[in-house]
Amino acid sequence: MGKVIVAKTSDVAPGTLHKASIDGREILVANVDGKYYAMDDTCTHAGASLSEGTLDGNIITCGWHGAQFDCKSGRLDKFPAKINNLKSYNVSVESDNIFVEV
Ligand code: FES
Repeated sequence: MGKVIVAKTSDVAPGTLHKASIDGREILVANVDGKYYAMDDTCTHAGASLSEGTLDGNIITCGWHGAQFDCKSGRLDKFPAKINNLKSYNVSVESDNIFVEV
């Protein structure tokens, strides 16, 4: 599919999460200290929307059962059970648009 605009930089303030829908796929964009990261929005445990969770540094915590993912890589950081990592995407910024490669 290629590069797709997912948000304006002004939509994703530092320390916040933003959800975008691309062609039926839910993508989460995180702003960590002015750098943007993108990954699937759907928690690999039971399907919660991670954009409704919390962001602390580079760690996203799922609002349902507390799984934690590193938003820089999509990797599972902490959870009592083995669940899959999140698929992460390359992000670029041009002027005030955030692009994700899907
Ligand atoms: S749905 Fe995310 S931890 Fe259970």
